[in-house]
Amino acid sequence: MTLPSANWQLLFINVNIATMSQGGTSYAAIEDGALAINDGKIVWLGNKAQLPDYDTEQVTVVDGMGKWITPGLIDCHTHIVYGGHRANEFELRLQGASYEEIAQSGGGIVSTVKATRAATEDELYASAYKRLNALHNEGVTSLEIKSGYGLDLDSEVKMLKVANRLSENLPVTVQKTFLGAHALPVEYKDDADAYIKLVCEQMIPAVAKQNLADAVDVFCEGIGFSLAQTEAVFNAAKAHNIPVKVHAEQLSDLGGTELAAKYNALSSDHLEFLSDAGVKAMQTSGMVAVLLPGAFYFLRETKLPPIEMLRENNVRIAIASDANPGSSPINSLQLMLNMACTLFRLTPTEALAGVTCNAARALGIDDKVGELVVGMDADIAMWDIEQPAELCYQFGVNPLAALYKQGKQVI
Ligand code: NIG
Ligand code: FE
Repeated sequence: MTLPSANWQLLFINVNIATMSQGGTSYAAIEDGALAINDGKIVWLGNKAQLPDYDTEQVTVVDGMGKWITPGLIDCHTHIVYGGHRANEFELRLQGASYEEIAQSGGGIVSTVKATRAATEDELYASAYKRLNALHNEGVTSLEIKSGYGLDLDSEVKMLKVANRLSENLPVTVQKTFLGAHALPVEYKDDADAYIKLVCEQMIPAVAKQNLADAVDVFCEGIGFSLAQTEAVFNAAKAHNIPVKVHAEQLSDLGGTELAAKYNALSSDHLEFLSDAGVKAMQTSGMVAVLLPGAFYFLRETKLPPIEMLRENNVRIAIASDANPGSSPINSLQLMLNMACTLFRLTPTEALAGVTCNAARALGIDDKVGELVVGMDADIAMWDIEQPAELCYQFGVNPLAALYKQGKQVI
């Protein structure tokens, strides 16, 4: 008789498994479990007592000695490729200036655009590599990287190529999002419609042709783009079969989420000012609510996203770092787990779902990653903890014991 382990490359035993296979309603945990991997995929998991006989000579066995394993973490909203920094604006805000005032007086995103345009591809790569490495060392195996600090075709393409290079050199899946409609570049000052025309008629076709965008995003906001402009960008993305997502309801309620729902958006992100109608639209469309506690914290926002209503309407909630130089210069998803609980009162189960299964869904990669079930990629984080809530409870001592990307140990 051939033992099943003839086809197993790696087998974890003595592990507790937070499979996250029930949409975040529980850890869907298997205590005292085992998990087998072949060809980079999960091929068996269950209670150790049910483990079929296996050939110890064929398989590399990893004894977890009671540690927990979870899906590799997924940061579904980042802007880690950029030039310069904005510490000067941080000081201005501490003296009383608001994020919007700084943007309106020519600072904010536009000042990062200047630094990003001036940077070479190698310089952008070197600084982004450090940020990605920090996230990876905390257990991240997939993330999203947005463009949006170039705001002309060459500079946007430069950013997206850096994102490609990062994925080639670190064992992390990178989903690229084109965010040409992030802010108005100085050369289009007072003519936002003309800039949106450029985004729709030249930039989106060009990035689509070069296969540089897995999604298209818009900053729909008073200091960003209007509903009509957002819709024009969505239509251009749709014409190229690229899914959309939106930065919406961060500083005011423009209804960007409801519009995005009509375009079957993957997610709407920020959402502090989301209305009841916006929540209902999310429920109907099935899009993910991506909450960004780092930006909430760093901008010292006081209005909370409507979390209870999202829960009541079974809207899936993801949590991300929003790592960027202006509103969230924070390259730590472990800190976001903590903040999701302390600032937004998510349960540790909801927070962990927010950086695994629901984050995968916000990126449209939930058929491959985000849950530990048979058939999924073996992207697995092993943690030196006694219970999953510890991932949210303590911050500053990295509990990551090992990390596997498609079945290969990378940390
Ligand atoms: O997600 N809201 C717009 N974009 C970023 C901030 C970008 C910046 O300030 O550089 C965000 O918060
Ligand atoms: Fe953002």
